[in-house]
Amino acid sequence: MSNKVLTQRKLVIIGSGVAGLCAALEAVRLGAPVVMFTKEQLGSGNSACAQGGLSAVTGQGEALGDSVTSHVSDTLRAGAFYGRKEAVEELCGSAAELVSSLENYQVHFDRDVAGNYQLGLEAAHSAHRILHAGGDATGAGLIASLKQQVIAAQAQGKIEIIEHAMVMDIYRGQGPQLSVSYLQGYGRDAEQLADAADAVLIATGGIGSLFEASTNPAGATADGIGLAARAGAVISDLEFIQFHPTLVDPQLYPEAGMISEAVRGEGAVLINETGERFMLAIDPLAELAPRDVVARAIHAQYQAGHQVFIDARAVEAERGDGFLASRFPSISARLKNCGLDLAVAPIPVLAAQHYVMGGIHTDTQGRSSVPGIYAAGECANTSVHGANRLASNSLLEAMVFAREAVLAMTTDSPQSCAQVAEIQVVNLPSVAAKAPLGLAQLQELASTHLGVHRTGVGLSELIDVLDSSEPVADEQRAQVELNNLFTTARIIAHAALNRTQSLGAHHRLDAQVNTKSNKQRFGWTIEGSQPINQQNESKEVHA
Ligand code: SIN
Repeated sequence: MSNKVLTQRKLVIIGSGVAGLCAALEAVRLGAPVVMFTKEQLGSGNSACAQGGLSAVTGQGEALGDSVTSHVSDTLRAGAFYGRKEAVEELCGSAAELVSSLENYQVHFDRDVAGNYQLGLEAAHSAHRILHAGGDATGAGLIASLKQQVIAAQAQGKIEIIEHAMVMDIYRGQGPQLSVSYLQGYGRDAEQLADAADAVLIATGGIGSLFEASTNPAGATADGIGLAARAGAVISDLEFIQFHPTLVDPQLYPEAGMISEAVRGEGAVLINETGERFMLAIDPLAELAPRDVVARAIHAQYQAGHQVFIDARAVEAERGDGFLASRFPSISARLKNCGLDLAVAPIPVLAAQHYVMGGIHTDTQGRSSVPGIYAAGECANTSVHGANRLASNSLLEAMVFAREAVLAMTTDSPQSCAQVAEIQVVNLPSVAAKAPLGLAQLQELASTHLGVHRTGVGLSELIDVLDSSEPVADEQRAQVELNNLFTTARIIAHAALNRTQSLGAHHRLDAQVNTKSNKQRFGWTIEGSQPINQQNESKEVHA
């Protein structure tokens, strides 16, 4: 990254996963005063749970025949050619530089005895190119190292960190500065405070808590999308939600969690209770087909009355006793606590919500459609993932574009924002009628109608219920989170109804066959939720 002049623009960062932490370190590097809000402890959240790794063609011992071009093609293909090519090229082309910056931050990627990166394989990658840390604890390894650097910067007075602070709204006063209001602490009487900034980066992660079964931790409550929508930002591509094929059945083993795709990358297969390896008949790549294909196949097995298992016994037999436990130490330990062992018996799994491809619409410098508001990580939509994210591209995307966003935040004019000219923007009316709706009810509705399979009838029913409901929680933080999930569910439902053809992870059972998918991109705003767009007339739109 090139060095820039030190800046005095004050930045606010909301969220402390890999995107937030990388952004904070970049702000410190550029000399920008920065305040970071995080609703729990620094570094807690979804990033720390990432098992698989970081996809990167590093130029240091890549797999035979692999190249950045090949990483670009795999990303576009997995995304059903809906991703934006220039953005994907920037993503994949920045990976090598990101990896060396991370190593400067003391991140240690696993290497073999000769000192070369140990490269894993995951679904829809045409080569081994996944870097990992601690075997299957890549997210935790990244967070630990980045957090240490951020804490060191805090000790030097270069960054202020406000933990247990739930940001509720971003608004603009008379001048160009933005303010954020937040709850400090939890509970009914949590104080509402405000802090002012020249630019705000939203990096709050995913939406998993909208669904009954998700690989995300409970704190993934769509906060960034809710916050940005209330501030008038365009939210795009929310109909594209990724379901991970192998969450250990939470009804049977609630604490067992997800089994990384890297386990299938090492050769584990999927079978049903009859022992049938059903993926062989569905895709030439079998268990390593794109994630949406595998998730739908598993869902279909359950719908046909089968049960699905991941079977890694042959991997252990071939690679030797103890291979799985040493390659996947965290997963193995978690499974062991539940009385399960990958090396010994097949483990029951199902498809569960994992990631959202869409989000706050941004360019690759993190600018949203609202001047002063930027976004990075899972809550942002840089259009790299298209209709289905390629495995292990999310940590890469979060960190590459978080750093780009900070460069823009420190150098942009106050009127700068992303262009949305190619997007058809729809303004959703605000909800009028009011029947109380709690979290469990919302999760049940979303799981029924916004899951792996969708229908127009189901989506219309869902919209009718949501449009006559008011989210109600019994505590202040929970209320803000439920509002965010509710807004997000409404946008997903409208976006999914609007896209009548299947594309990538958005699968409509009632789509007409043999009709070419419409690749028009849609964006959504919420009527009456534009408190900070008063400066529209002076916007400086970036191409
Ligand atoms: C996994 O390890 O299966 C998840 C990796 C990812 O979602 O990119």
